Amino acid sequence: MHAPQMPCAIRPHNDEDALRQAADILQAGGVVGVPTETVYGLAGRADLPEGVARIYQTKGRPQFNPLIAHVDSLERARALIVFSPMMVRLADAFWPGPLTLVGPKRDDAQVCDLVTAGLDTLAVRWPRSSAICALVKALDCPLAAPSANPSGTISPTTAQHVGEGFGDALALVLDGGTCPVGLESTILAVEGDEVTLLRPGGLDRAQIEAITGPLKAAGEGGAPRAPGMLKSHYAPSVAMRLNAQHPRPGEAYLAFGQSPDNFTGPMINLSPTQNLVEAASTLFASLKALDRHGLTISVAPIPFDGLGEAINDRLIRAAAPKEIL
Ligand code: TXA
Ligand code: MG
Repeated sequence: MHAPQMPCAIRPHNDEDALRQAADILQAGGVVGVPTETVYGLAGRADLPEGVARIYQTKGRPQFNPLIAHVDSLERARALIVFSPMMVRLADAFWPGPLTLVGPKRDDAQVCDLVTAGLDTLAVRWPRSSAICALVKALDCPLAAPSANPSGTISPTTAQHVGEGFGDALALVLDGGTCPVGLESTILAVEGDEVTLLRPGGLDRAQIEAITGPLKAAGEGGAPRAPGMLKSHYAPSVAMRLNAQHPRPGEAYLAFGQSPDNFTGPMINLSPTQNLVEAASTLFASLKALDRHGLTISVAPIPFDGLGEAINDRLIRAAAPKEIL
């Protein structure tokens, strides 16, 4: 099967006809760009191997990297993975929202093997996204959806980013405006009462630890890892220099807080008022915009508290040497 060769259509996410078109594409084993509160997703029916394969193909994603199954209710999540009491507490606190829970996959879960890339655990999320929830309901099936960017590039926070990334390899993006969170979901693996932070994301550590107690670090003492956490995942095409108090001549600068005096190069300020929520919501779009200048991007120091942990995680990955996949 070939992806349709027509320009990517961008249509309002709450338009009934657009939702119907999306459902038809998904039903036929195709993929659609959909907004969520974190980043845009590239969705396919989780139970259709050709739909999931089309996701991997469209993204150019290595096949060993498992996907998140998106649902529209706790009930549908419970049909996919076995919930421990700790997982129920987390779901009650943060769903729908920017939290992904990794738990033991049920034998009869409505997902094909390509979704888990062979693991016996499954990542599940109930997003705050009316479009995904409406599509899951209409199809009566979870949607597998990674971030809607070609593998190794920056995650998209607008429908236009998605359209630019895939061009005519994608038939439809539902446009829900700019993603309010702007960073991917926080991923937690739960084993009994032990909770491991696989990927920092849209939730504050403090909010989570109020429920779980201290989180384990991924890989610590045999704790699980997220296979997708490759060192250079979120990469612009240019070099990056982190913790730069001042930009050097010939660089582009990603500022935070006060902008430097006397700098005439390209510059974007993530948040002049040092608001980490604002910084997170504009991070990927800002990196993309600065990337276009072809100059090394130097980045101001960002504090590690609150969403700063996830922002720094993405920046360190963006700055890491590129991995050949
Ligand atoms: O905010 C988000 O989470 C977005 C939106 C679209 O929902 N999705 C997203 O998906 O960021 P993706 O595929 O880009 O990242 C999913 C991450 C990967 O790092 C993958 O390795 C990890 O989740 N993951 C998936 N299944 C897993 C499992 N069973 N065990 C451990 N990690 C898993
Ligand atoms: Mg991604």
